[in-house]
Amino acid sequence: MPTLEQARRWYPAHDPVHGFDHVLRVYRMAERLALAEGADPEVVRAAVLLHDAQDSQAGGDEQQAEKRGNHHVRSAEFAARVLAAEGWPLERIAAVQHCIQAHRFRDDSTAPQTLEAQVLFDADKLDAIGAIGVIRAVAFSVSSGNPVYYPVSDVFLRTGQLQSGEIHSAYHEYLFKLVKLKDRLFTPTARSLAEPRHVRMVEFFEGLAAEMES
Ligand code: ADP
Ligand code: NI
Repeated sequence: MPTLEQARRWYPAHDPVHGFDHVLRVYRMAERLALAEGADPEVVRAAVLLHDAQDSQAGGDEQQAEKRGNHHVRSAEFAARVLAAEGWPLERIAAVQHCIQAHRFRDDSTAPQTLEAQVLFDADKLDAIGAIGVIRAVAFSVSSGNPVYYPVSDVFLRTGQLQSGEIHSAYHEYLFKLVKLKDRLFTPTARSLAEPRHVRMVEFFEGLAAEMES
């Protein structure tokens, strides 16, 4: 079983988007969800520790953005190497890999099909909403050189596609993804925990838009 101390080496210490503190929060939340929902705790723990281990950092150039878009696939490959070296049976390695491959909102080609994958998805998405979700979206925008707020086009609102000259701000991220997350969660435990986090986040972003537009 990979340990927290081992996992600490796979992540930057102080990256608010995908640093080790994100992994620690998701680890605690996933343990809680696994217990409440009856998921296999070992598969869930290993999946959490490895889920963003490769290429997940914000910022950088276009090439890094492209790599980040594939971080779930690369992290799942890395997970297989780590767990095989520890002597995990193939079937349980595949179970962990499925959790990691299915954890993205931006790539829904692999839906979380097992309870363990749903627990990782939910724990990871609870960390993308609420006050912590606001901090992570703002930190992502700042470290990518983008504004926190930028006027949103009607086209973006309808399709999620940026118009020429439009910049994907943290406010865009809120409209594109964060506001939808609470209704995409799978487990009843995560759904009830999401409600107050959702309210806090909506208040912040709608307040931000009101101030910027007034
Ligand atoms: P996941 O791996 O769960 O699919 P992402 O890597 O897309 O998630 O996002 C991780 C975190 O970074 C989330 O909190 C998300 O809101 C934030 N984020 C991702 N892309 C952007 C962006 N373009 N602008 C602002 N925040 C972003
Ligand atoms: Ni991720």
